[in-house]
Amino acid sequence: MYYPDEVIEEVRSRNDIVDVISGYVRLQKKGANYFGLCPFHNEKSPSFSVSRSKQMYYCFGCGAGGNVFTFLMEYENDTFPEAVKALADRAGIRLPEADASEEEKREQSRRSRLLAVNKEAAKYFYFQLRARQGEQGLSYLRGRKLTDETIHRFGLGFANKTPDDLIRYLKSRGFPEELIREAGLANTDEKHGMYDKFWNRVMFPIEDINHRVIGFGGRVMGDGKPKYLNSPETPIFDKSRNLYGLNFARSSRKGNIILCEGYMDVIAMHQAGFDQAVASLGTAFTPGQAGLLKRYTKEVLLSYDSDGAGVKAALRAIGILKEAGLSGRVISLEPYKDPDEFIKNRGAEAFQERIDNAENSFLFEIRMLEREYDLNDPEKKTEFYRAAAKKLCEFPEELERENYLQAVAEKYHIGRDSLRKLVTATAAAGYARPAEKPRSGIQKKNAPEDNVKKTQRMLLTWLAEEPQIYPRIAAFLSPEDFTEEIYRRAAEKLFENLSRGEVNAASIISMFPEENEQREAAAIFNTSLPEPGTKKEKEKALHDILVSVKRISYEYNSGRLGSDIEALNRVIAGKKALEELSKTHISLD
Ligand code: UTP
Ligand code: MN
Repeated sequence: MYYPDEVIEEVRSRNDIVDVISGYVRLQKKGANYFGLCPFHNEKSPSFSVSRSKQMYYCFGCGAGGNVFTFLMEYENDTFPEAVKALADRAGIRLPEADASEEEKREQSRRSRLLAVNKEAAKYFYFQLRARQGEQGLSYLRGRKLTDETIHRFGLGFANKTPDDLIRYLKSRGFPEELIREAGLANTDEKHGMYDKFWNRVMFPIEDINHRVIGFGGRVMGDGKPKYLNSPETPIFDKSRNLYGLNFARSSRKGNIILCEGYMDVIAMHQAGFDQAVASLGTAFTPGQAGLLKRYTKEVLLSYDSDGAGVKAALRAIGILKEAGLSGRVISLEPYKDPDEFIKNRGAEAFQERIDNAENSFLFEIRMLEREYDLNDPEKKTEFYRAAAKKLCEFPEELERENYLQAVAEKYHIGRDSLRKLVTATAAAGYARPAEKPRSGIQKKNAPEDNVKKTQRMLLTWLAEEPQIYPRIAAFLSPEDFTEEIYRRAAEKLFENLSRGEVNAASIISMFPEENEQREAAAIFNTSLPEPGTKKEKEKALHDILVSVKRISYEYNSGRLGSDIEALNRVIAGKKALEELSKTHISLD
């Protein structure tokens, strides 16, 4: 769903950033800006600033920054359209409806009817659990050490022993049989007609990230089979693209996500304070779910059952996470079976320790590989080394591969050089991905690239803060002078505004729908400028920055000169501008 620029701008301008952020962070006015403790990283003294005049926030500690949309995207993990919607609601602005075709409208209403019937069923189960007929369910859940608060938070419920009371209830609320069946809440057979799918079970409503009930899992209260019964896939319940608990975990502040196997595990972890826990939905972890997690975190901690099936599932999940570009670590639960049992026996602190000591997923893979070989047998030992070498070949980047090679050599007492030879031989035999040279060895802290960008940022920040200087330097400057795509686009928009005599850097940020781009755009307009000094010093500083930006642009374009005539023009013009600039005094009078 895309909204027109004017609408986005209206929503932004009607939500003052200081007011909005004050709802989340305690801010104190200091000079022109407001300061508080940054909600995006841990800190003791405030480096998070909010500017009413710029309508932007920026953290000098971690570099988080943006406008009011960015804030909601980062804090609530909203998508851009979600942030626009939330702020439109806050300001009482009605967003235009998307133009939907008849078919889309039908599909939408089908989905919303399915959501409605699920919601009603969840309510029904919820009340049954608290009624006399639900006593057994409630005592089952309490017996599993769930507090009433947890039971409430997860909306747990109970399906009665009677064969069709849910169906009758839903029908009494006006839901047609066909819809109840489509939602997977009822089955039909020739002998009995239509009957409730869930029967004499404690019920776990499954919610999507927006807390809407999309399906159910129901557990027997003893050893019956199947242990869990789940809703079938429906148009609103795609098991490969949802995760149990993600509705809460998405706004966790823990900085990682714990992925486990069971509903009860998720609930036990949340109850113990690990509000970043999620589980797949009775099926194996999928690439779609990895993609979903990637929206919220960079690091996934696996907390799978410690039995053979759990290890196998964890190994599969590691592969999927890797493909998705997520880094994984594995939490050891030994000697317990799953996180629920671990926490019940050892408590939250011990679990936190296990999190802190979670094993790198590659080393976990190697350790599991080792289990398959009897290392007392020289032949098997060699086979294990070969298999490990083959796995090491999976790292395309030399530095990373070398680091892992050293770790493996050390752990399994293999000579480093022998292992390296083995890896090279294996790679030569055709297992390696195309080798990539490490870019520039060890990255220096302040790479020249950073300085280049910083200089460009300083000029843009300066122009946004003191628009009156623009006319004095406009003749020398164009958006093409900025060597990064995002800088160029921001400059283009800024110069366009400035030439009309207005600046609105916060609106420029909304041009970028992606959160990381917004963050970068915010940095562009929030770079620290040279300390204010005399007018003469200031003029010199501005002159120097401008010359640097022109020189960077000149060198950048010269370096890239191919057959591109426009680039050639830019180089020549750049040279001329530089010469001219060296003779020009920029006056700030
Ligand atoms: P587990 O058998 O490990 O159960 O299944 P659990 O989560 O530890 O549950 P408790 O502690 O025994 O109550 C893990 C997950 O696999 C799915 C469910 O999603 C469950 O949470 N599952 C398991 C089913 O869908 N059906 C089953 O019959 C069993
Ligand atoms: Mn369990």
